[in-house]
Amino acid sequence: MKTVLSGIQPSGNLTLGNYIGAIKNFVKLQDEHNCYFMVVDLHAITVPQEPKALRERSEMVAALYVAAGIDPARANIFMQSHVPQHAELSWLMTTLVHMGELERMTQFKDKSEGKESVGAGLFVYPALMAADILLYNADLVPVGDDQKQHLELTRDLAGRFNHRFGEFFTVPEPYIPQVGARIMSLDDASKKMSKSSPVEGSYIAMLDTPDQIRKKISRATTDSGTEVVYDPSTKPEVSNLMSIYSECAGISLQDVQHRFEGKMYGAFKKELGEVVVAALEPLQKRYYEIRESGEIHDILARGAEQARSKAAQILDGVKDKMGFLPAK
Ligand code: TYM
Repeated sequence: MKTVLSGIQPSGNLTLGNYIGAIKNFVKLQDEHNCYFMVVDLHAITVPQEPKALRERSEMVAALYVAAGIDPARANIFMQSHVPQHAELSWLMTTLVHMGELERMTQFKDKSEGKESVGAGLFVYPALMAADILLYNADLVPVGDDQKQHLELTRDLAGRFNHRFGEFFTVPEPYIPQVGARIMSLDDASKKMSKSSPVEGSYIAMLDTPDQIRKKISRATTDSGTEVVYDPSTKPEVSNLMSIYSECAGISLQDVQHRFEGKMYGAFKKELGEVVVAALEPLQKRYYEIRESGEIHDILARGAEQARSKAAQILDGVKDKMGFLPAK
């Protein structure tokens, strides 16, 4: 049994990209492993958040985890800010990471581009992410493709710590799906589908209504050809839609291609709309039941308690290795 850890920021409406690239794999991994799934609110505040919206979205992400099938009896679901050790280890990691490494992070470059002033938190964000992972000695980190670089840095930091202070941290492995690790925008297949996009038609939110889903898919940009063929380099738009089909229907890309042989984009998009609705509708029903019941608060309290006990133990070990005088 391995230790698995991952997190999602409560910084917007969760999208089909978050579902396919991350949450679906969380659900899969909980059967065989010891799992920690967080709502990373401390990460979300690296860009300005309106307090009321942050609170609402934090609860939304936690409830979506459960609605998607993460079982709180098997996996620890918790808020990052409920486990103070994340912030503490993050500071220790900040002293290990180099400025040059942080400057190379593409997410930092993207998010800070064109901004007059950028919070220092956005710059040191990867140190907090490394702390998240190392605080539980995670073996496996299920993420989408865009988190690869952060994970690589976490691995470097684990190695650096072990080299400087003696073997301690597990060097974590990324768990990135073959299909669906990078779901692209519906209006522009050169950009990833993002929950922080201001263009609503560019993403499908996990809580979009069936009509919104159908409409967004029917309006999705497609290339000028007609054939439903998977080839991301020449047909990025249709290939992206095929990945979504494959993941939501649970069939291979080859089978998707086969199914639509000789059919036009219109027929494909119509059926894709239904496939996405069928994948999300039961989840949405559970989501509203969970919100209604208020049970998420107890789930988060239990998750945080268990997480804190593991995190405290690891942090004590880290501080001992680094030479801090123990508090008596
Ligand atoms: P975040 O909140 O941006 O995204 C959450 C997860 O969803 C994946 N994802 C996608 N996958 C496929 N296609 C897309 N279009 C798409 N958009 C997002 C992301 O890769 C991610 O797995 N830094 C992280 C959160 C984090 C974390 C951690 C993750 C903080 N601490 C520790 C793992 C372990 C982030 O911003 O994810």
